[in-house]
Amino acid sequence: MKRSLVKFVKIPRVEDDCFLCFMEGNRQIPFDIKRIFYIGLPVPNLSRGKHAHRVNKQVLFCIQGVVRMVLDDGREKEEVILDKPEVGLFLDNMIWHEMKDMDEKTILLVVASELYDEKDYFRNYEDFL
Ligand code: TYD
Repeated sequence: MKRSLVKFVKIPRVEDDCFLCFMEGNRQIPFDIKRIFYIGLPVPNLSRGKHAHRVNKQVLFCIQGVVRMVLDDGREKEEVILDKPEVGLFLDNMIWHEMKDMDEKTILLVVASELYDEKDYFRNYEDFL
């Protein structure tokens, strides 16, 4: 059976007079969280990412708006739309990823297994292959 590149990470969503989502390292998130960053206010038609990590693993949440994620392991490509704050996308190491089709309200929250290290990036697709 074909192994899908798309792996979702579902986190709890509490609903009362608003929604509240939470995540914890080594519980919903399958690693120790060392770093958190978020991305917002995209220019129109932004295409972002376009890199892979040697070691770093991430879970990406679209906490507002929408994003289309394109994943590529060098053999196959898969796409997925994220638009729910309680559904994260697990981005394993050595997966080339691109973020597309964000709307003006989109905010992406990313939790990472490693501290920032530019040497961990493949920014050139041929090098990644
Ligand atoms: P980059 O990872 O290329 O952004 P994206 O994932 O949206 O493609 O990072 C953009 C810039 O921000 C780059 O100059 C490095 C810097 N940066 C940090 O300094 N620390 C971080 O944790 C991240 C994610 C980026």
